[in-house]
Amino acid sequence: MKKILPSILSADFSRLGEEIREAESCGADMIHCDIMDGRFVPNISFGPKVISDVNKVTDLPLDVHLMIENPENFIDEFYKAGADMISVHYENNYHLDRVLQQIKSHGIKAGAVLNPATPVSSLENVLYNADYVLLMSVNPGFGGQKFIENTLRKIGELKEIIIKNGYNTEIEVDGGVDLTNIKSISDAGADMFVCGSSIFNSEDKCAVIKKMKSLIGN
Ligand code: DX5
Ligand code: ZN
Repeated sequence: MKKILPSILSADFSRLGEEIREAESCGADMIHCDIMDGRFVPNISFGPKVISDVNKVTDLPLDVHLMIENPENFIDEFYKAGADMISVHYENNYHLDRVLQQIKSHGIKAGAVLNPATPVSSLENVLYNADYVLLMSVNPGFGGQKFIENTLRKIGELKEIIIKNGYNTEIEVDGGVDLTNIKSISDAGADMFVCGSSIFNSEDKCAVIKKMKSLIGN
C-alpha cells in the first residue's frame, strides 16, 4: 500500500498539534519530520524535543529525516523521542552501512537518502541493509521548491536494482510533490510520498490528501 507523508516543515508551528491531528483525520499515513542543523543544509528546523511532543499527539508513525552532520550522534536520542523510521544521507556519511545498522538495532526502520546530484549506484552496497531509500527531488533545506524531473529517471533505476536483487526496500520521494506530479512519481515506482507545502499550504488539506490517495491508486 502506497503512503502519503505530510512534512510538518510547512505546518504552522504555533498550531502544530492541531495541524498534525487534522492531517491524521484526513488519512495521512505517517508524519515526516525534517531535522536540519544549519551545517549540512542551509536551514535550521527542530530537534528531539519536538519529535517527542509530536509523538504524544498522534498515533501515526514518525518518519525522521536527518539533514545534520554526524547523524550517528543523535540516532539514539531520536529513537527515544519516538521515531519509527530514521533516514540519513549518503553524502555526509563515511560509515553509512554502520549507521543503518545502528538505526535498525533499535528495531525501527532505516533509510538511506540521496541528494538530487548523487547517483543511485552509490547505494548499491548498502541496499541490503536499507528498509527504504529516500530520493530527494529538491535540494534539501527548504519546503516549497520545484520538483526536479530527473528524479523520475532515478526512481526507475533504483526500482530496477531493488527488483533484480529481490530486496524489499521501499522508495520514498521528498520535495515538490503535489497533485500535478504525484501520479507520474507513483507510476515511476515510488511507494512513499512526502508532501509539505502541497498539503499544509492548502485551504482544504483533506481534499488534497484524498485526491493524492486516489491518484496513487489507494
Ligand atoms: C526539504 C525537506 C522536505 C520538505 C518538502 O529539505 O526534506 O521534507 O518539507 O517540502 P515540499 O513538499 O514543500 O517540497
Ligand atoms: Zn524531508
